[in-house]
Amino acid sequence: MELVLRNVSKTFRTANGPIKALEDIDFQVDTGEFVCFIGPSGCGKSTVLNIIAGLEKPDPHSTVSIDGSPVEGPGPDRILIFQQDALFPWLNVINNVEFGLKMKKFPNEKVRPLAEEFLRMVHLSRFRNSYIHELSGGMRQRVALARALVVNPKMLLMDEPFSSLDAQTRERLLMLLQTIWSIIGKTIIFVTHNIREAVCLGDRVIVLTASPGRIKREFRIDLPRPRRLGDGRLVETSNLIMGDLKEEIDKVVREEMGDD
Ligand SMILES: Nc1ncnc2c1ncn2[C@@H]1O[C@H](COP(=O)(O)OP(=O)(O)OP(=O)(O)O)[C@@H](O)[C@H]1O
Ligand SMILES: [Mg+2]
Repeated sequence: MELVLRNVSKTFRTANGPIKALEDIDFQVDTGEFVCFIGPSGCGKSTVLNIIAGLEKPDPHSTVSIDGSPVEGPGPDRILIFQQDALFPWLNVINNVEFGLKMKKFPNEKVRPLAEEFLRMVHLSRFRNSYIHELSGGMRQRVALARALVVNPKMLLMDEPFSSLDAQTRERLLMLLQTIWSIIGKTIIFVTHNIREAVCLGDRVIVLTASPGRIKREFRIDLPRPRRLGDGRLVETSNLIMGDLKEEIDKVVREEMGDD
């Protein structure tokens, strides 16, 4: 048992009054598990990740713990990767990957070989001296992945990391992420609004309701790996989950349109 969320709610205080983003979220993620969250826009997916990352505080009476210890704030055991990752533009690729190791005061002579090893893992060795603006979106996300993994976190938190990529690049990165996960066996919590992407990656797919986000249903995905987005059974499973998700998307559309 690794990550446990119990009765996690989150209310944002805003100038227009409180916004309840999450309500009574309960789930548990085992060590090495790959769990995907899907839900319509605004349902609180990023908020869940930010709470696990320790960047947002949940409401009182919520509990979030990792290996039995309450999460009180950010820590090096959890790394968050965003849609457009915040790599350092003033550092080249290898220095971006080395950055976290240097912050951790990792022994100097081990920094370069380890960074090289993780760059190889994401197939970017040739670009070690390039600057971030010289890379494509897919390459940037691979640097972000190497930079996150090199510091050996317990858990990777990924917030729609592939959603700005074209279809072919996304498919390649989905394969790469599956390969890497099968080698390093990290716990990954992955948020997306793309069902096929969730089914492609997850041991489980958890569907959130429209705002306030609650857990609507959970699906265990037993398909063999590696999985491809076009696999027949993956598409069938995605269609099954789509029914649930569509209800929630329709709610959001009705709410946003109001009486118009
Ligand atoms: N810092 C904040 N202050 C006020 N309200 C916020 C804040 N962050 C999020 N919210 C609100 O909380 C709700 C959930 O937001 P969140 O960003 O978690 O949704 P999401 O599921 O990640 O959406 P998307 O799919 O568009 O990324 C939304 O109603 C949003 O407006
Ligand atoms: Mg989000």
